[in-house]
Amino acid sequence: MEQITLMPRIGDIAPDFEAVTTTGKIQFSEYNKGTWVILFSHPADFTPVCTTEMSGFALEKEFFARNNTKLMGLSIDSIHAHIAWVNAVYEKTGVLFEFPIIADIDMSVSKRYGMLQPGESETAAVRAVFIIDPEGKVRLIMYYPLNVGRNMEEIKRSLLALQTSDQHKCAMPLNWTPGEKVIVPAPKTVEALQERKKSDLEMVDWYLAKRSLS
Ligand code: BEZ
Repeated sequence: MEQITLMPRIGDIAPDFEAVTTTGKIQFSEYNKGTWVILFSHPADFTPVCTTEMSGFALEKEFFARNNTKLMGLSIDSIHAHIAWVNAVYEKTGVLFEFPIIADIDMSVSKRYGMLQPGESETAAVRAVFIIDPEGKVRLIMYYPLNVGRNMEEIKRSLLALQTSDQHKCAMPLNWTPGEKVIVPAPKTVEALQERKKSDLEMVDWYLAKRSLS
């Protein structure tokens, strides 16, 4: 009987794996030590939407480094295809994909992470994004279909929202961007509620209060 492995969900420990990548063999848990990792898949090398997306990640190299985050791409292509594509994009545009790209030719990583979604394609990974924290926990997952490219601003915003939420023990409202007010956790006792009423928090109701981080 075929064993069914569940894809990781938010809050799960990211499944570990060893993979052949464009920067050499990598053990994911080692790569993830002490840093955030954005693990993302693309359907195929030498395709237009994927080229724009991978270039977008490469151009944000300094943003991700500044925010303690490493990148790791993946597709079900050979290491030779990856190397040829990286070289071709660099020669045409001057943009170098310096982050590792997994050659998941046996589909083991894409299957484990639910990146293969047969209703969309039996042979190509969908556009998945897993944001994984330095403790190895999956914190946010996005899936896009083959014909719609992702939004780099949203990927960056999500990463900063997670990091800010962890640091300040708060939640982020609709469309939050850095510098905007954050949501303060609701009071857990009647006494805390009475204290809140006297505070200078921006309050819509007792359970919906915002504060500035500055
Ligand atoms: C693209 O990246 O352009 C693409 C890849 C696979 C299917 C459709 C589009």
